[in-house]
Amino acid sequence: MLDRFNRNINYLRISVTDRCNLRCRYCMPDEGIKLLRHEDILTFDEITGFTKLAVGKGIDKVRITGGEPLVRKGIVTLVGMIAEIPGITDLAMTTNGTLLENFAADLKRAGLQRVNISLDTVDPDKYAWITRRGNLNDVIRGIEAARKAGLNPIKINCVTGESCSEDDAAGVTEFCRKNGLELRYIEEMDLEKGKFSIVHGGIGGHCALCNRLRLTSNGKLKPCLFNDMEFDIRTLGYEKALRLALENKPEKGMTNSNNSFYNIGG
Ligand code: 5AD
Ligand code: SF4
Repeated sequence: MLDRFNRNINYLRISVTDRCNLRCRYCMPDEGIKLLRHEDILTFDEITGFTKLAVGKGIDKVRITGGEPLVRKGIVTLVGMIAEIPGITDLAMTTNGTLLENFAADLKRAGLQRVNISLDTVDPDKYAWITRRGNLNDVIRGIEAARKAGLNPIKINCVTGESCSEDDAAGVTEFCRKNGLELRYIEEMDLEKGKFSIVHGGIGGHCALCNRLRLTSNGKLKPCLFNDMEFDIRTLGYEKALRLALENKPEKGMTNSNNSFYNIGG
C-alpha cells in the first residue's frame, strides 16, 4: 500500500487493550484514568477480520501492543488467530514483561515470533518508583522465559528523560550487553505538546520513513501517532476506514490531544 507521499505502508500496530497493570510515570496517571467500556473494545473476530483485510492489501508486519497486551483476557487465543492469517512475515508484541513468565511459551506456540520488553532501569527501587507498582524481578524472569521460549530477537525499550536518568539507561545498557539483548532508547515524549523524537536504534519517529498504521482497542484506525485523525472501523467498515487512513496519512506528525500512550500503544 503506497500513501500520498510514496511511503510503503506495511506495518500495523494493534492495541488490544487500554488497560495496564503498571502506571509508568511518563505514560499514565496513578489514578483516575478513564478506561474504555467493555462493549467498546474490539472483539477477537473484529481485530482478526480487520487485520486479514489489511494483510490482503499489503500489511506484512504486525505488532500487538496495549496498554499491556498480556492483561487482555484470552490474549494467547487472539495471537493464535492473528498468526493464522497468511501473509504476516513478522508478528511481534510490545509488553512490559511483568506477566511474560506465565505467557511466553504459550505465545510462542500460538505463533508469536518475538517481543519488545520495556525496561527503563535495573535498579529495583527505581523500577518500583517509575512504574508505581511494578516488581523488577518479574520483568527479569519474563525476559528469561522469552529467551527460553525462543521469542527472538528480544529487544529492550528503554525510555530516557524526566523520569529515568542517564544512570538508569547506563545500567540497562550494561544489562543488555551482558545478556545479549538488543536495546533501543526512547526519549520521553509528550503527545499533547507534540514533543516526539526518534527511537534510537529503530525507525520510529522518522516521518519520511513511517510505514505504520495504528488500530486502537476501540477500533479507531490512526494514520499518525502525532495527529488527532482517526477512522472508526466499526462505523465506516474495515475497507473504507483502511482506505481513508491511507489516503489521509499526514506527511509529518504534529500534536495529539485525544490520545495517550496507554490507549494507542506507543
Ligand atoms: N514517551 C516515550 N515512550 C513512551 N512509552 C509510553 N509512554 C511514553 C512516553 N511518554 C513507551 C513505553 C513502552 C511503549 C509501550 O511505549 O516505554 O516501551
Ligand atoms: Fe503500562 Fe507500558 Fe504505560 Fe508502563 S508504559 S503504564 S507498562 S502501558
